[in-house]
Amino acid sequence: MCGIVGYIGYRPAAEVLVDGLRRLEYRGYDSAGVACTNNIRLEVAKSAGRLDNLVKELAKRPLEGQSGIAHTRWATHGAPTDINAHPHTDCTGTIGVVHNGIIENYLELKAWLIEKGHKFSSETDSEILAHLIEEFAVSSVGGGSGDAHGARLYKALTKALSVVSGSYALVVLDQHQPDLLLAARQDSPLIIGLGEGENFLASDMPAIIKYTRRMMVLEDGDVAVVGREKVMVQKLDGLPVERHLFIVDWDPGRTEKEGYDHFMLKEIHEQPAALRAALAGRVGFDTGGKHLPKLEQVLPASVAAACREAVFVAAGTAYHAGYLGREWWRRWTDLPVQAELASEFRYHHPHLDRHSLVVIVSQSGETADTLAALREAKRRGAVTLAVTNVVGSSVAREADYVLYTQAGPEIAVASTKAYTSQLACLALTGIYIASTRGEMDQNRAAALLGELLALNGVMREMIPRLEPEVREVAVEWGRTADVYYIGRGLDYPLAMEGQLKLKEISYIHAEALAAGELKHGTLALITEGTPVVALATQPQLFDKMVSNIKEVKARGAEVLLLTGENNRHRPLVDVADKVIYLPEVDPDLMPIIAAVPLQLLAYYAAVNRGCDVDHPRNLAKSVTVE
Ligand code: G6P
Repeated sequence: MCGIVGYIGYRPAAEVLVDGLRRLEYRGYDSAGVACTNNIRLEVAKSAGRLDNLVKELAKRPLEGQSGIAHTRWATHGAPTDINAHPHTDCTGTIGVVHNGIIENYLELKAWLIEKGHKFSSETDSEILAHLIEEFAVSSVGGGSGDAHGARLYKALTKALSVVSGSYALVVLDQHQPDLLLAARQDSPLIIGLGEGENFLASDMPAIIKYTRRMMVLEDGDVAVVGREKVMVQKLDGLPVERHLFIVDWDPGRTEKEGYDHFMLKEIHEQPAALRAALAGRVGFDTGGKHLPKLEQVLPASVAAACREAVFVAAGTAYHAGYLGREWWRRWTDLPVQAELASEFRYHHPHLDRHSLVVIVSQSGETADTLAALREAKRRGAVTLAVTNVVGSSVAREADYVLYTQAGPEIAVASTKAYTSQLACLALTGIYIASTRGEMDQNRAAALLGELLALNGVMREMIPRLEPEVREVAVEWGRTADVYYIGRGLDYPLAMEGQLKLKEISYIHAEALAAGELKHGTLALITEGTPVVALATQPQLFDKMVSNIKEVKARGAEVLLLTGENNRHRPLVDVADKVIYLPEVDPDLMPIIAAVPLQLLAYYAAVNRGCDVDHPRNLAKSVTVE
């Protein structure tokens, strides 16, 4: 949670920093702040609310200087006020700190610092970092100016880090040391972008990709000294380390809206391309010209063969992808397969061993609960596979094997293209494991792979055709208070994702139910005019779904039915109030196609209600707190 940007170079720092914050707003947006130094003093501007408030503040009182730090916050300790916004400073106002994470022992450290005479201005855990550095810088011997002062600051920071417990990505700016920024990371992401005569720090690449594509990911326990020309990384104990430098191949334009009203809509439309990218280079042909999964480089066949059970672990939308993955893998392999919520995983005392394959699904690769679950799975001896979108993320680095979803940057808080890319990757991996183990017939594997590869074309044709129809329904939901999503089999996890999309961006209460469960309680809530979205993409379950739809219709529900084209010949006018026909693909893969109209439904419902689609209230894209 929270987004950090740091800059040191030759440009006006405040401009670079605010520009970076804008691209990190998805990480949190209840307050923001910037600090710059111009050799003479360290100046800070902060503002509660959205970034535009800070921009107004800076227009009235611009900050000078070519080095600085900035932060966009998602409150954990202390309300979202001007004072609690970062950067935080020490008592002298010369040391500024931005921090992402949680300092768990801050109360005891704060009491100790107060005893030493430090004065605190905010209620945050983060402010103690500035005071700790001040305390240890003053108490350390030697140093006057220049390099000596820099060394003293560095020592003070490492000493401060040795007494804090918790998680952090942080950047420190010191008025007396305008030629360097200090940074450190433990369990929260932080990257360094390398330029010519300038360097950048950020929580995530979109913040700085406009300026450089040369990136370096800091690892836990790293402390970095970042100058204009040089970057030095050491471990907390002073041991120098080399961090891998890589070039990001995204086009910076991919982090812009490119004419769409919102990132979410742009990302919905990017799904055909994202699906293609997810499968690129991962499907080949056998000698007979049949499709074959090519995943040996990602997950050795020996691992697939040795596997005796699989467990998907994830949070939010990624959990819904994992749940669908579970259904697929159960059908295609002989393995017992589970799907677990990352935040609950540890409490279930999972019985895992070296024959357990734990699949960690995470767009960001930084979700704290998911990362903790990954560590728990490793601790229990399981083999771990990360399915993630972010190269070099914590999950990617810590898992035994990594399958990148290759969806490109996803900026909107509500996940769309990352979700369908996860689905494509989980389907592909399922087919790979099943055929490697001889549990799926080669013809079936080839047919499914062929359909998977063709999905992007199907989706490309479908989106513009269905968008106006879906929009019409969404507009009718203007004053709706509750919507129910029902489905059976593969349509149940799809219903879960549909309802989450709707509630997170439109604030309409929504619930997903296995359609057969409806009559065991929730049916009591269906009254005249209650909208029900019925998902019936599975031919073998269609008749049962019709019975469930009739149950809600009999109570006055307004039913929107999503089903395949093959049902067009049926007399469905009496069954549903509105039917959206989806292009027919293999029934197992229908949920990937059907996810798109559900995303559009949520999007247009939210737009119609005047909601801030890309920045839903109280939410953040990357949740790095437990
Ligand atoms: C947050 C986001 C969701 C996302 C979930 C898991 O709650 O708002 O969109 O699905 O985190 O994120 P991950 O990055 O692990 O997929």
